[in-house]
Amino acid sequence: MIVLAFDVFGTLYDVGSLVSAAEGIVPNPEAFVRTWRAKQLEYTHLLSMMERYERFWNVTERALRYTLRLFGISLSDQGVEELMGAWLRLRPYGDVPEALARLAERFKLVTLTNGDREMVDALLSNTGLRGFFADLLTADEVGIYKPSPKVYALVERLGVSRSEVGFVSSNPWDVAGAGAAGLTPIFVNRHGLPQEELGIVARVEVRDLRELAERL
Ligand code: LAC
Repeated sequence: MIVLAFDVFGTLYDVGSLVSAAEGIVPNPEAFVRTWRAKQLEYTHLLSMMERYERFWNVTERALRYTLRLFGISLSDQGVEELMGAWLRLRPYGDVPEALARLAERFKLVTLTNGDREMVDALLSNTGLRGFFADLLTADEVGIYKPSPKVYALVERLGVSRSEVGFVSSNPWDVAGAGAAGLTPIFVNRHGLPQEELGIVARVEVRDLRELAERL
């Protein structure tokens, strides 16, 4: 492997850190954030199948507005803006900064994310991680979302073959998608989840990025 390509949300960043932003705004912040995230992912899949791509930021806001209605909460535009802004200040998992520093000494690191470039660039910059990544590969370049193989194929732009790219994700469906597209799938199993039953098994499974930096 020459390149390591990282999923962003859930792999580098704890989406659960949105809960603190939601506290005081919605009455049931944990359930609210769980639904928001699930709806966000569902909408990426639905919009891809409908061939109606919209950038991840907009999809995230649509999922937020749906979740507000589901929970019966009416929120001012300013409240919506505040919750959306929390996506640009997510908390990286504790193992991430040091592990990226170690891995960057031996591999070229890129993101490979459903997040749009502007959103991911801002998040990485705000949290001090931007410097580890040689390039940002983002779904908005191809106008469809992972797990479409078109998104994983973006790695070819780096002048390497797909199998030379280790794709690192904590989202089991994303690991399966990367393997299906011919990348070398690496599962960072942060939540003790089983891998998907989709006929694709990760080449490497670790608990966190610290363990990955030791194993590779
Ligand atoms: C990403 C989302 C899918 O970063 O977690 O691509």
